[in-house]
Amino acid sequence: MKLAVPVIGAIAVLFTGWMMAKAGWTIPPVETKQVGYRGTGAFVIHDKDQEKKTMAANVAPAPPYEPDPNGPRAKEAHPGLQVLGDLSEDQLNRLMASIAEWVAPEEGCTYCHNAENMADYSKYQIQVARRMLQMTRTINADWKQHVGQTGVTCYTCHRGNPAPKQVWFKEIGPTPTDTGWVGWRNGQNVVAKNADGSSLPYDALSEYLLGDRPIRVHTLTALPSGNKAGIMDTEHTYALMTHMSQSLNVGCVFCHSSRAFNAWDESPPQRVTAFYGIRMARALNKDYMEPLTKTFPANRLGVTGDVAKVGCATCHQGVNKPLYGANMLKDYLAELGGKTQ
Ligand code: HEC
Ligand code: HEC
Ligand code: HEC
Ligand code: HEC
Repeated sequence: MKLAVPVIGAIAVLFTGWMMAKAGWTIPPVETKQVGYRGTGAFVIHDKDQEKKTMAANVAPAPPYEPDPNGPRAKEAHPGLQVLGDLSEDQLNRLMASIAEWVAPEEGCTYCHNAENMADYSKYQIQVARRMLQMTRTINADWKQHVGQTGVTCYTCHRGNPAPKQVWFKEIGPTPTDTGWVGWRNGQNVVAKNADGSSLPYDALSEYLLGDRPIRVHTLTALPSGNKAGIMDTEHTYALMTHMSQSLNVGCVFCHSSRAFNAWDESPPQRVTAFYGIRMARALNKDYMEPLTKTFPANRLGVTGDVAKVGCATCHQGVNKPLYGANMLKDYLAELGGKTQ
C-alpha cells in the first residue's frame, strides 16, 4: 500500500508529461499574421522554425530556357499529338524536358515513353499524362476564381514524384467484424486520416470533394422547421473543414469570423476562394480522376479499388498559396494556359 502511492504518482506524472509532449503545441518563437478585419481575432499563427523548413521545401523550379514560339507546328512532325500539336517544335521539347523534371526526374523521358518509338502511346503513364495535360489546362482556363493568374503546372501537385504525395482515397474504416467494444461506428470514431487524425467522420471527402453533399450547419430561422442540418451534418462538415485547415496549415479564422461561421459578409475573402476550391476539386475528381480508374494499374488504387483523388493538400501542401504563390504558369502560358479540354 505504501509503495502504491508513489508508483501511481510517478505514472500520473509520466502520463501527463507524455500527453503534453504529444499535444502538438506550436512552440515559440511564433509569427502572427493578421488575415481579416481588425478586432475580429483573425490571425494565423506559425511556428517560425517550422515556417523556415516549409519555405525551403516549397520552391518552384525555374524554367530551363525560353523556347522559340516560331517555326512549323509540332503536329507536322508528330501527327500523334492530341493536345500539344499547336506548339512550336522548340516549345514541345522544352515542355517535355520540364515535365520529365516535374514528374519523373529519376527515369526521365522513358517513364512515359518507349525509347525505341516516341510516338508509342501504349504505356499507362503516357495515357494518364495526356489527360493530365488537359486537366492542367482546364484548371488554368476555367478555375481562375480559384487559381487566379498564378495557375498551376504539373509541379504544383507532383513535386518531382510520379504519384503526388498528398492525395486521398475512399476510406471504409474497420470492417463490421472489427468494431471492437464500440459497436456500430457510424462512419466515425476511428483515426480519420483525411480529417487530420481526428475521430470525425473518416470518409467526408467522398461526400464533399466527389459528391455534392451540402456543407451546412447553421440555420437562420427558429427550430424545428428551419434547421435541416442535424448533428451528423455538423460532424461531416467539420471533417471537411479540418481537411481544409490542415491542407493550408491555417486555423478556421483564415476563412471565418468565429462569431458567425456561416456569415459570408463577415468572412475574409479567402472563404470565397475556398468556396471555388471545393467546386474545383470536385470537378477534377469527377471529370478527370475517376474516369482514369481503369487506366491505372491495381497497385495505384485504394482499398476499395478507387483512383487517387485531388484534395486541397494535393496542391497546397501545407501553405495557404501553393509554392507561396510563385507563378510558374507565366513561363508556360502557350503550353499549359490554354483552353478547356
Ligand atoms: C510524364 C510523362 C512524360 C514524360 C516524362 C515525357 N513525355 Fe513526351 N509526351 C508525353 C505525352 C502525354 C505526349 C503526347 C501529348 C499530346 O498528345 O499532345 C508526349 C509527346 C512527346 C513527343 C511527340 C511524340 C509523337 O507523337 O510523335 C515527343 C517527341 C516527346 N514527347 C519527347 C519527350 C522527351 C524527349 C522527353 C524527356 C525529356 C519526354 N517526352 C518526357 C508525356 C511525357
Ligand atoms: C491537381 C493536381 C495534379 C496536377 C496539376 C497534375 N497531376 Fe498528374 N496526377 C495527379 C494525381 C492525383 C495522380 C494519381 C496519383 C496516384 O495514382 O497516386 C496523378 C498521376 C499522374 C501520372 C501517373 C503516374 C504513375 O506512376 O502512376 C502521371 C504520368 C502524371 N500524373 C503526369 C502529370 C503531368 C505531365 C502533369 C502536368 C501536365 C500533371 N500530372 C499534373 C494530380 C495532378
Ligand atoms: C480555407 C478556408 C476555410 C477554412 C480554413 C475553414 N473553413 Fe469553414 N467554410 C469554408 C467555406 C468556403 C464554407 C462554405 C462551403 C460551401 O457552402 O460550399 C465553410 C462552411 C463552414 C461551416 C458551415 C456554415 C453554414 O452556413 O452552415 C462551418 C460551421 C464551418 N465552415 C466551420 C469551420 C471550422 C470549425 C473551421 C476550422 C476547423 C473551418 N470552418 C475552416 C471555408 C473554410
Ligand atoms: C489545382 C490546385 C489547387 C487545389 C486542388 C486547391 N487549390 Fe487553393 N489555391 C491554388 C492556387 C494556385 C492558389 C493561389 C491563387 C492566387 O495566387 O491568386 C490558391 C489559393 C487558395 C486560397 C487563397 C489563399 C490566400 O492567401 O489568399 C484559399 C483560401 C484556397 N486556395 C483554399 C483551397 C481549398 C479549401 C481547397 C480544397 C477544397 C483548395 N484550395 C484546393 C491551387 C489549388
